[in-house]
Amino acid sequence: MRIAETERLVLRTWTDCPDDLAAGLRIWGDPEVMRWVGRGDALDAGGVEASIAAGIAHQEQHGVQHWAVVERASGEVIGACGFHLDEGGPGLEMVFHFARAWWGRGFATEAARAAFEHVVRARRPPEIVAAHRLENEASGRILAVLGFEDHGVEHFEDSGADERIWIWRPSVSEAETRR
Ligand SMILES: CC(C)(COP(=O)(O)OP(=O)(O)OC[C@H]1O[C@@H](n2cnc3c(N)ncnc32)[C@H](O)[C@@H]1OP(=O)(O)O)[C@@H](O)C(=O)NCCC(=O)NCCS
Repeated sequence: MRIAETERLVLRTWTDCPDDLAAGLRIWGDPEVMRWVGRGDALDAGGVEASIAAGIAHQEQHGVQHWAVVERASGEVIGACGFHLDEGGPGLEMVFHFARAWWGRGFATEAARAAFEHVVRARRPPEIVAAHRLENEASGRILAVLGFEDHGVEHFEDSGADERIWIWRPSVSEAETRR
């Protein structure tokens, strides 16, 4: 299912087809990409398959996932960008992971903006959270550009790392137009 489009990108849901599994492995199987994600472990093919299956189930249950980001020019899946919904925890959480070959060309910012605008329009969330390792400055830039506010640093037991917390909430004027 197509979620959003930009000048250079299409965001769509993941499938369990072999091309998506190969693309997932290029992203989550790369230790460089995973360096600052979770405990920093790259996934093997089985892990990627499980991650995509979990994403498909998450989409069915919650209407969001870490959507596949397709570069229009090549037709290739170059990254994952979207949301995880933890109803018992922080609510809607933004994530973005891109294959290394496509870093530094503004793709993550372009995809994150499209995913963010889609979810705000579709769900009207009261807030969206995000977190990243302190070393991961690019993530902070993307969140700041989208209007997230810096809420300081927290230690996470699951990743064993200090992470910067960002929260987006609708502005007063946006909230008023919803009434
Ligand atoms: C973080 C990541 C998504 C950025 O993707 P990207 O496509 O290279 O990002 P963009 O090109 O859109 O750049 C975003 C901003 O970060 C800046 N940036 C890019 N690489 C950077 C770096 N290594 N150090 C500091 N800033 C950097 C860019 O200049 C841009 O800032 P600007 O808007 O002020 O110009 C990508 O590096 C990635 O997938 N990393 C591994 C996974 C990961 O860490 N995800 C986030 C976990 S919370």
